Amino acid sequence: MARVAHSFRGLLPSLALALAAGCSGPAAPPETAAVTYTPDPHSYAKPAEARVTAVSLDLTPDFSARTIAGTARLAVTRSAGASSLVLDIRDLAIARVTDAQGAALKFEIGESRPFLGQPLTIALSPATDAVVIEYRTSPTAAAVQWLAPAQTSGKKLPFLFTQGQAVLTRTWVPTQDSPGIRQTYDATIHAPAGMRAVMSAEDVSKEGEKDNNGRGVYRYRMTQPIPPYLIALAVGDLAFKPIGKTTGVYAEPSVVDRAASEFVEVDQMIAAAEKLYGPYRWGRYDLLVLPPSFPFGGMENPRLTFATPTILAGDRSLVSLVAHELAHSWSGNLVTNANWNDFWINEGFTVYLEGRIMEELRGRRYADMLRQLGRQDLDQAIVEAGGSKAADTHLRLALDARDPDDGMTNIAYEKGAAFLQTIEAVVGRERLDAFLRAYFERFAFQPMTSEHLLRYMNETLFKPGEVEKVDVQAWVYGPGLPSNAPPVKAEAFAAVDAEVARWARGERAAALATSAWSTQEWLHFLRGLPQPISAARLGDLDRTFKLSASGNSEILFAWLEIAIRERYEPAFPALERFLLSQGRRKFLRPLYEELAKTDWGRAMAARIYRQARPTYHSVSVGTIDGILKWQEK
Ligand code: BES
Ligand code: ZN
Repeated sequence: MARVAHSFRGLLPSLALALAAGCSGPAAPPETAAVTYTPDPHSYAKPAEARVTAVSLDLTPDFSARTIAGTARLAVTRSAGASSLVLDIRDLAIARVTDAQGAALKFEIGESRPFLGQPLTIALSPATDAVVIEYRTSPTAAAVQWLAPAQTSGKKLPFLFTQGQAVLTRTWVPTQDSPGIRQTYDATIHAPAGMRAVMSAEDVSKEGEKDNNGRGVYRYRMTQPIPPYLIALAVGDLAFKPIGKTTGVYAEPSVVDRAASEFVEVDQMIAAAEKLYGPYRWGRYDLLVLPPSFPFGGMENPRLTFATPTILAGDRSLVSLVAHELAHSWSGNLVTNANWNDFWINEGFTVYLEGRIMEELRGRRYADMLRQLGRQDLDQAIVEAGGSKAADTHLRLALDARDPDDGMTNIAYEKGAAFLQTIEAVVGRERLDAFLRAYFERFAFQPMTSEHLLRYMNETLFKPGEVEKVDVQAWVYGPGLPSNAPPVKAEAFAAVDAEVARWARGERAAALATSAWSTQEWLHFLRGLPQPISAARLGDLDRTFKLSASGNSEILFAWLEIAIRERYEPAFPALERFLLSQGRRKFLRPLYEELAKTDWGRAMAARIYRQARPTYHSVSVGTIDGILKWQEK
């Protein structure tokens, strides 16, 4: 380590490395300097020996072969004695490895392990400070989804996108794929004529540039060090529409206007977030609306949030998702979970920030509805994780030998947010906000662990007695929802509960006072309906409120869950359409799970899934295969 550490004397290795990688935090007071080096159970990298600081890609996607081929040039910092560099790869064909001068370097590919892939160990000579890897991805690379034209809204051109989080970047970029190992990156992408490449970085393309094969050349550059799960690419028939001066949206041409109008509040969201948490440090903030197979609601790729089209409700009722992904520009992308055991540090903080941003925009009454729906999600997540004593309900997880995906439940999101709400209740908003601003500033571009976070809270936030009052240890290292979580009671839901009660007493749907309800009130209503429900009463609800035909994905989803549970067959054509027309895992998982509970449901699920499976992204396929115990025939 001597070579990099000497100029940052006294700091522990990972912090010294972070500083060496070019991040610009202010000098730390000694008591908070120790972002301890934490080994990452989901990476083969040995960063204390040799560490990637910059990734430089030159890649050409081949839509007929469904492969991406080219080179990755990696800049390396190393300790004096290090003789090798260890990278993470999965399903990559490595053709050649050289140094920056083109001299071949010896390399070895280790044994493959499920979801972790393989270590690629490259021999370094004493002078090597960069390696160049010539490689090709597999057609089944888990990060990459290749869409046939039929899966796009234009229906004419194919499309591709990547999804790196949690450990999938290694299936398309050979690098040290750990969130604790930040890297800058740049990329040159050669895209077929008629298609545009976009990435989670600054667009430095030269207008109209073409390569020798007539492909469009797109150039991107990320000069701030980011965790590799945030390297992202999409290629397709993309149009752009500005929203504000530094904001806008990319989408297929037939979607871009709708998207821009749905997201008009994005500048207000940025202003609210900056007021609360300090400057937005990434330059532009754009969104990319993907085709409907995108497996997540959103993904916080820096400068370019990736989003599902299922949030385009037409009435801006689902845009808290934008506030969420934007909030990751602080919690997650500036300060990043050091490894996936501390995923809650990304998501729990982000859900809390999302609520605060939405409160600035829409007021307390609205934000409280989001919080109460979130608390309902948490109650359900605790049940699904095995109950309030289960280890999977801890914030800090011990995923070591497991797929990090297993830990990515609503516990991290909603228990994490409830933890911050509890702190808010004890220390007050003003002090918590000041703490958060200082935290994002102090640890910008650095990894964070539970241990370190709690130490920093003790040093800079809590006054005597307050740690005990919050009961920090129970929240982070204990199970269930601690009893001091402040109750959330959305004022608006009292009226909804009253209508649920009237309906439960036999009132007809048409007689209920629903005309002023927002999406969130509808969701609370549907979640609150007592069961079982007769087919006649389901029909009354459906005919009166047109639920099976709802264009709001969240309302439709909540309704379809009920329809399956009650075997309400008139909604099944809508269910089938929904499962075949989008691939968002948050919607797919509960619906297939509900179907899998009965014989008739399993048969129906199998019939639909056989057709839908080839249209879903690998992360959704992995989950649904598990639910249906699917064996590809
Ligand atoms: N970073 C997550 C998505 C993610 C999590 C991808 C874990 C891969 C592994 C993103 O910020 C997120 O949380 N998306 C949510 C929406 C949000 C409003 C809760 C989603 O996709 O539903
Ligand atoms: Zn998130």
